[in-house]
Amino acid sequence: MSRIAYVNGQFLPLEDARVSVLDRGFLFADGAYEVTCVIDGGLVDFEAHIARLQRSLKEIGMGMPMDGPALEQLHREIVKRNGLTEGAVYLQVTRGAAERDFAFPKNVSQTVVLFTQARDLVDAPGARSGIKAVSVPDIRWTRRDIKSVALLAQVLAKQTAAAAGAGEAVMHEDGTVTEGASSNLWIVAADGSLVTRQLSSAILAGITRRTTMKLADETGIVLHERPFTLKEAYAAREMFLTAATALVMPIVELDGRPIGNGAPGPVTKRLREIYIETARAAARQAAK
Ligand code: PDD
Repeated sequence: MSRIAYVNGQFLPLEDARVSVLDRGFLFADGAYEVTCVIDGGLVDFEAHIARLQRSLKEIGMGMPMDGPALEQLHREIVKRNGLTEGAVYLQVTRGAAERDFAFPKNVSQTVVLFTQARDLVDAPGARSGIKAVSVPDIRWTRRDIKSVALLAQVLAKQTAAAAGAGEAVMHEDGTVTEGASSNLWIVAADGSLVTRQLSSAILAGITRRTTMKLADETGIVLHERPFTLKEAYAAREMFLTAATALVMPIVELDGRPIGNGAPGPVTKRLREIYIETARAAARQAAK
């Protein structure tokens, strides 16, 4: 059975799902996106994803193509049509298809696309052993708080990581870490406290980051929201990333140097465990 995608009001087999060559998402990366994780057939933190989408669209001069409940209905429908139990729903909204001209076109309808990707999240291949990462200069624009589909810098960063046999790229500006190519980054410092960069236009406000912060707080782990350097990361006890497609994922090697003892550490393991428990409970509730 073919995967089912959604394009502008229609559910279609993926191979028949099409957008125009004049779509501004294709020509200018003029759009925003969200990736919502699905566990046990339910959407995790959906409302937060939709709130972030609304904000991203607003920041680039666009409204929502439909309201939150309608978008949730579409997400649930595409999960159901694809029989997805674990993985992600990808949603993209662009300014639409219009004659190629840089300024916003008038009277154009937005393009809305959804598709699903099945993927092991709870038993993710890298979760037990941890993944390797490499550092790369962050060459992106300065509005990284917008979840823009302009991802060429991240494509290049991920390719550098892949070529080095690593699973994530740690992006930095003059040695100060911003975030992962598709994740937020965290370290456990020498004093046992957790460190992750504070929100600003330098990074994306991760939904998984937000939930992990809450869980760390409930667990009594001391958290400092501040920038950290590559040097601090090399010397950290533990390092991990958070993202909807990876949950809480240990990083055990950075630029060929082991982090801590080179194995996933206790704080990371505990946070991953409680993140999964919490997400499972929320997803089951959402699937009802
Ligand atoms: N990316 N920072 C960047 C640059 C990201 O692309 C992502 C997620 C995150 C984490 O955000 P969240 O916890 O809301 O997933 C941080 C998605 C998963 C992607 O592009 O596939």
